[in-house]
Amino acid sequence: MTLKGKNILLCITGSIACYKSVDLYRELKREGANVKIIVSSSAAKFIAPYIFESFGEDVFTDDAFKSPLAHVSLSKYADLILIAPATFNTINKLAAGIADTLITLVVSASQDKLKVLVPAMNPNMFSNKILKENLKRLTEHNFYLISPGMGNMACGDFGEGRFPDTSDIMFELESVFKEKTLKGRRVLITAGATREYLDPVRFLSNASSGKMGISLANEAVKLGANVSLITLNIDVSCQYINKNIRIIRCKSFADLKDALLSEFKRCGILLMAAAVSDYSFKEKSLNKIKKGDLNLNVELVQNEDLLKALSEMKKEEQIIFGFAAETDSVIENGRKKLMEKSLDYIFINDVSKNVIGEDENEGFLINKEGEIKRFARQLKTELAGKLLAEILR
Ligand SMILES: Cc1cc2nc3c(=O)[nH]c(=O)nc-3n(C[C@H](O)[C@H](O)[C@H](O)COP(=O)(O)O)c2cc1C
Repeated sequence: MTLKGKNILLCITGSIACYKSVDLYRELKREGANVKIIVSSSAAKFIAPYIFESFGEDVFTDDAFKSPLAHVSLSKYADLILIAPATFNTINKLAAGIADTLITLVVSASQDKLKVLVPAMNPNMFSNKILKENLKRLTEHNFYLISPGMGNMACGDFGEGRFPDTSDIMFELESVFKEKTLKGRRVLITAGATREYLDPVRFLSNASSGKMGISLANEAVKLGANVSLITLNIDVSCQYINKNIRIIRCKSFADLKDALLSEFKRCGILLMAAAVSDYSFKEKSLNKIKKGDLNLNVELVQNEDLLKALSEMKKEEQIIFGFAAETDSVIENGRKKLMEKSLDYIFINDVSKNVIGEDENEGFLINKEGEIKRFARQLKTELAGKLLAEILR
């Protein structure tokens, strides 16, 4: 909840994408932000300011003379000035230091306040050289740019200029407020559950959803890391995964082993949040086994301990963070695993508390010095930030 209690000044300028700012406003409120809104005269032709008034918000229209000194009070109010959508017109005016609308006036008085631009326009306008130069100039003056997406535009053209999805904008806004404590670090994360196939349709697996690993990956990006995420049987379209995360798709223990062996040497921090099967089937049938032919005494073989193998390859500066699922003697078992596998940290999920597949998690963190920290039940998205902070501590 990085945006909780933050004062956001949402400035809406006259793009066809204006209606999407209503969804953005709703999401900001859902995250606990305070929001005041300015709707430019052109934007007011696309959406009625009354929409926001009916949600009980203060809405300012673009006539600076109607609310004298609003530009000063609004720029003081804002922790962040969010211009979304930002038109070709307003971006170029800001770069030239023009202040002839309430929005440009507020920015002129905003000193070092955080300012975020979300351009939205036709691809031919977005590729305009003057606009490009001005965007560069503004980013050099500490404006944060959220790049538009590629796609079909309202006018029928295809290209770069689309207003980004609300979830991507929210991600970037949270990121703006975070210190880049992992800048330049390569972080490798595993998420999900391996599947060991008996035949083409039947497999041995577990209920891990990958939510913890995905939360860690998103959080690490917000802290400035270069993140690779090994996903195991996760439907990546069902959970938000930031577009800056490199995804490596794996299914089985053997795939995971190959991926880890090739990726591990390049990473600084490994977070093994995936639930890896301890066993595989001794034999795998290439064809589906018929009902009557299924031998119920299938033979299992034990899989190698990947974390232990990686610890043996580990360089001094690398950090290995393991996860374990326990139902009993949680701390005792966790400590034993930390030592046996020579880990730097282990987080023990207390799976007796119904956390697998849920949005929330709880458990204990143990570091190699033997310090134990309890984390009460909380959202995995919140816990992810706290666990990364422990590594950086
Ligand atoms: C139908 C229509 C759609 C428009 N869509 C956009 C747009 O998506 N992006 C943009 O930069 N300008 C767009 N414009 C142009 C702006 O509305 C125009 O430049 C206006 O002066 C912007 O004023 P403002 O920046 O103060 O809001 C559109 C204009 C019209 C008539």
